[in-house]
Amino acid sequence: MAIGWLNGEWGDTSSLKISVLDRGFLFGDGVYEVISVYNAVPFALEQHLDRLERSLKEVAIPWPVSREALADLIREAIERSQAAFSLVYLQVTRGADDKRHHVYPEAINPSLFLMATPTPHLQHREIKPLTAITMEDYRWSKGHIKSVSILANGLLRNAAVRQDVDDALLLRDGWLTESTASNVFIVINGEIRTPPKSNHLLHGITRDLVLELAATHGMKAKEIPVSIEDLRQADEIWITNTSQEVWPVGVLDGQPVNNGGPGPVFADMDACFQALKRKLCGDW
Ligand code: PDD
Repeated sequence: MAIGWLNGEWGDTSSLKISVLDRGFLFGDGVYEVISVYNAVPFALEQHLDRLERSLKEVAIPWPVSREALADLIREAIERSQAAFSLVYLQVTRGADDKRHHVYPEAINPSLFLMATPTPHLQHREIKPLTAITMEDYRWSKGHIKSVSILANGLLRNAAVRQDVDDALLLRDGWLTESTASNVFIVINGEIRTPPKSNHLLHGITRDLVLELAATHGMKAKEIPVSIEDLRQADEIWITNTSQEVWPVGVLDGQPVNNGGPGPVFADMDACFQALKRKLCGDW
């Protein structure tokens, strides 16, 4: 059972109810965030709230409560979950209209839902490289908005899983964008590369942290377009996201990457990331 907060009320998530006229339900009209919690401390909270602010601005939804009140609710959700390691999910939708109508009214109260789900794998990581295939990225051109409208991501991910792999790395005209729920990095001759920020990919918080860690630890890293050929000849491929942090890909389109195991540059970056977590959230 998970405890959640919906529009002013705490309760068991299976019993919280939202209006069927909520535009999040009818139109996927909303944005979200996922935040890792280590040692009961929300990791990179300010960066997540900054991105939420950018997403809200892009879709012209006001803050449902103040930023400070939201941070307090996140802390309360963590406390109520009674779990030291969890994932906080939060979403803000435009709110409930009085009828289904494409044009939204200016004065409408946004809906806020959040919950902290206990996630033991955040405490004990067991790295097992992923398998992936490449697929055409047919999603919309506003991938930088962390929108709850992620039907295409779900369809792509499910198409990959039905081909017996873990995920799909997405290509637009032969250029890598990201995966269905992560950013993607490659390593070529010791150099870490990831596609530059654009409207075709989410500006991942983990992606930013990995680039910062590379800079502070003197590892060579570049934001540069990555082609399908670069992917094929990469010595290492990683994905990054909030719940998996940095994670290696061991097989791409049936071909092993770094003999199927985690590579040496991954190992260095992962060590830096684990140290950062402990610096910011305390040891365990
Ligand atoms: N997904 N790209 C996409 C499409 C994503 O959905 C995510 C995160 C990322 C990585 O972003 P970050 O490092 O800030 O988590 C990139 C989350 C975890 C999800 O949807 O559950």
